[in-house]
Amino acid sequence: MDANTTLPLHTGNRMPAFGLGTWQLTDDTAGTVAAALELGYRLIDTAVDYGTQPGVGEGIRRSGIERSDFYLVTKVEETDDAYEATRAYLGELGLDHADLMLIHRPPSSGPGEELWRGLIRAKEEGLTRDIGVSNYSTDLIDRLIEATGEVPTVNQIEWSPFGHSDDMLRYANEKRMIIQAYSPLTRGKRLDDARLGEIAAKHGKSPAQVLIRWNLQRGTAAVPKANLPAHLAENIDVFDFELGEDDMARLNGLNERFSSLGKLPYA
Ligand SMILES: NC(=O)c1ccc[n+]([C@@H]2O[C@H](COP(=O)([O-])OP(=O)(O)OC[C@H]3O[C@@H](n4cnc5c(N)ncnc54)[C@H](OP(=O)(O)O)[C@@H]3O)[C@@H](O)[C@H]2O)c1
Repeated sequence: MDANTTLPLHTGNRMPAFGLGTWQLTDDTAGTVAAALELGYRLIDTAVDYGTQPGVGEGIRRSGIERSDFYLVTKVEETDDAYEATRAYLGELGLDHADLMLIHRPPSSGPGEELWRGLIRAKEEGLTRDIGVSNYSTDLIDRLIEATGEVPTVNQIEWSPFGHSDDMLRYANEKRMIIQAYSPLTRGKRLDDARLGEIAAKHGKSPAQVLIRWNLQRGTAAVPKANLPAHLAENIDVFDFELGEDDMARLNGLNERFSSLGKLPYA
């Protein structure tokens, strides 16, 4: 496993398991994205409401990376016209297609069938290679599938040893849908947990690196965000160690449905 390792989507395409989150990457988004690509990051996650799409596009151009060598994830908002928004966001990014477009969160009125139909159209027209959802429960995903027959390739949700769901993982496996972990570092809120610290010390790694590795070894993707160059480098340095079965069992056992945002939207 390395930073180029990909996970299979049910469409036959593949998505890097590891990447960079860009929420609050406001200091110098373009510089951080270019530095991340230089370090070997191959997936960038953004959204219009992070305000980082223009900076992400600029960082990509600055890096000189080939289009086929990186994977771009962005999202439509629940009030958007999904098809038109996809076109507009590609304009902000300066790209002719995304790799993955997500519905950022379900609208309060239901699963968002219209949004989903808009993304299906965007995919059919080549504006994005794949489509998925974020912050969706299994029930809401079922309702999208019932309405359209289209299964999301990815559900991007808050996911860490401290907050995850075996039911959601089972459901995702049944549907061949990939879970992409956001806030995989608990926004730094649980990095000083003593049990996590013990496992990290045993491997000569940091707690953040253990949290990322836990995801990768379970076949779930992760998009940690880092402004600091030292964090950026540390988070991709997770491919030279392996958590044992006992470590993984202990990490799984830390689950208390913790959410750094307040509530797990799917549990
Ligand atoms: N779909 C959604 O609704 C949704 C919601 C939330 C997040 N997301 C996505 O997921 C990404 C990641 O989530 P997040 O930004 O909420 O939180 P996160 O990645 O869990 O944590 C980011 C925080 O951890 C710090 N950090 C990074 N690497 C570290 C390290 N090695 N050691 C110690 N601290 C470290 C960062 O500090 P510095 O920045 O100072 O380096 C930052 O304060 C977002 O950026 C966004 O792309 C999506």
